[in-house]
Amino acid sequence: MLKTCIITGGANGIGRCMSETFIAAGYFVTVVDTDALSGKRLEEKYNDDIFMFYEGDITKKEVIEGFVQELVSKRPGVDVLINNACVGKGGLNTCSYEDFNYVLSLGVTAPFYLSKLLMPYFNKGGSIINIASTRAFMSQANTESYTAAKGAIIALTHGMSISLSGKVRVNSISPGWIDTGDYQHEDMYKPNHEEGDIKQHPAGRIGNPKDIAKMALFLSSDDAGFITGENIIIDGGMTRQMIYHNDYGWKYEV
Ligand SMILES: NC(=O)c1ccc[n+]([C@@H]2O[C@H](COP(=O)([O-])OP(=O)(O)OC[C@H]3O[C@@H](n4cnc5c(N)ncnc54)[C@H](O)[C@@H]3O)[C@@H](O)[C@H]2O)c1
Repeated sequence: MLKTCIITGGANGIGRCMSETFIAAGYFVTVVDTDALSGKRLEEKYNDDIFMFYEGDITKKEVIEGFVQELVSKRPGVDVLINNACVGKGGLNTCSYEDFNYVLSLGVTAPFYLSKLLMPYFNKGGSIINIASTRAFMSQANTESYTAAKGAIIALTHGMSISLSGKVRVNSISPGWIDTGDYQHEDMYKPNHEEGDIKQHPAGRIGNPKDIAKMALFLSSDDAGFITGENIIIDGGMTRQMIYHNDYGWKYEV
């Protein structure tokens, strides 16, 4: 029996790369996502003995409950849950009360509730991976909805790692700039980055969804059996780069 991996927002972007990486590694992957078109594309590519798509908005309690019910009626247990889906809706300038709560329900409440409902079904060696962001640690102006959700999911990660100790390992990954163009609707994506976009990264390049997917696969494996409650930053070194006025040609405009 194949191991089961659940990926929220697994139809596009980093999520889709993780879906395809886990399928290639021999997992049964199930994706819950609002994008029916991208879900259908994945259904056409992969047989139903290795892939299941569930269309739905996980900010809705009944969608999460319906998804879990359908999944557990089809699969005997769960091995990996990747809480990946999230969006930002601005900050102090434009974000409304409703928008702020929407982002928190998608980025924090849904991961919490999915983990809670799936708790009884996790197999031995199970793993939860929450996708956070380097924006949990540093900010641009007016991004509070996203930043708050990402800070919270890192705290949720260490919280759940203790509640589930001895049963499920729980970790988060904080990506920096990941160019997801190869995993969106366009079939022939051509990146168009400025040299500075690339060279500002100490690693000398912008991130690729595979950078995140490979870490998720490792964290799910027994080789990562001593890692729990941890957050792994994958950002090409951007959060390690200290910049002051006049460094590297950068100027603070007064
Ligand atoms: N791309 C980056 O540079 C980057 C950087 C840091 C963190 N992240 C994080 O990585 C994760 C994936 O980002 P991405 O860039 O691949 O995003 P994306 O927008 O390309 O994909 C997100 C997926 O989630 C789905 N989705 C959105 N709202 C949903 C909802 N309410 N219910 C169910 N599905 C929903 C979308 O349909 C889409 O398939 C997110 O948590 C994001 O915050 C991304």
